[in-house]
Amino acid sequence: MKDYFPVDKLKTLETPFYYYDMDLLRKTLETVVSESKKYDYHIHYAIKANANPRILSAIRESGLGADCVSGGEIQAALNAGFSPTKIVFAGVGKADWEINLGLDKDIFCFNVESVAELEIINELAQQKGKKARIALRINPEVNANTHHHITTGMKENKFGINLDQIDSVLDKLETLNSVQLIGLHFHIGSQLTDLHPFQALCTRVNELQQNLAKRKIIVEHINFGGGLGIDYQYPNQNPIPDFKEYFRIFHKHFKPFPNQQIHFEPGRSIVGQCGNLISKVLYVKIGSVKKFAILDAGFTELIRPALYDAYHQIENITSEEPKETYDVVGPICESSDTFAKQIDLNKTRRGDIFVLRSAGAYGEIMASQYNCRKLPKAYFSDLL
Ligand code: LLP
Repeated sequence: MKDYFPVDKLKTLETPFYYYDMDLLRKTLETVVSESKKYDYHIHYAIKANANPRILSAIRESGLGADCVSGGEIQAALNAGFSPTKIVFAGVGKADWEINLGLDKDIFCFNVESVAELEIINELAQQKGKKARIALRINPEVNANTHHHITTGMKENKFGINLDQIDSVLDKLETLNSVQLIGLHFHIGSQLTDLHPFQALCTRVNELQQNLAKRKIIVEHINFGGGLGIDYQYPNQNPIPDFKEYFRIFHKHFKPFPNQQIHFEPGRSIVGQCGNLISKVLYVKIGSVKKFAILDAGFTELIRPALYDAYHQIENITSEEPKETYDVVGPICESSDTFAKQIDLNKTRRGDIFVLRSAGAYGEIMASQYNCRKLPKAYFSDLL
């Protein structure tokens, strides 16, 4: 879909850079807002997926809250104008200064992952004469069937509190005066395209709530985390994920107690499809067994293929010539700096512009300066 990109404009900009389709972002936000409103669900966007200030502003304007996993992310959320009352703070290793920042700003909730952390939050809140609102992050032991680097809801993961430990954590909670339990938090993994695990999650949380009710514990909110996947294979056909079906599953299978709020933390599904990495071909290298298209972007700009074997659709948007087969690689001095092997692309020459699609989530934000490279710039469709 070459006419989707303003090729003449993109050609004039110094590569590599991220290019965001703000129209698609806004449409995606409209969809997530209207579909979640049907059931009065609360959405906190997972900032880890993309913290570009302009992207954050658009998300904040749509009315979503923010899910943060570091003090830096809390700061980014505040800078973008998110209200502290809509900020949740998760993460398995919160530093004292980060907890203090959350306490000073009176954020909505800390998602707590261990007794050790609970004790520190209690201590720091006590020092400030405050009561921290907390949710317990529970491992629901639901298999998300996704890449092993991004499954999280199982016992052997470092995240969360295991089901068999909940009672002892609740016992501990009763002894702490400066924390208040307001929620339960779950997150089973990322890039889920088969939605069945979410149904299994609902069933598990229903059982858990029944057990907790026996201890007279009914929390104010249940947070189901993020994880809805996007279509990396066919970004043009499916630019907006199926939020309708996603929320319908929770509505159908989760049985909340009266007045219980339901929260979500989507990241990838909101920003994934609106972002593209734009790169120039430096060289076409004819090897003895293959041809390489060597780009000026590498895993420093987009690490997902190197780190997770992730697929991103690649297009040469400046060539109409018949297809040939290439390995598409970057300039970084490591063999893993390969975006794709043996793919068919329009015949490629030095100076051609390549687009790596569906790179809005975990793209720009995971960029690094390895090899002393510059961090990539970002351009936006509505400002070009
Ligand atoms: N909530 C929690 C507790 C999480 O750990 C995550 C993602 C999210 C929400 C947002 O999940 P999403 O809706 O984006 O699936 N860098 C990897 C993905 C790591 C996801 C980490 N946690 C990638 O590039 O695929």
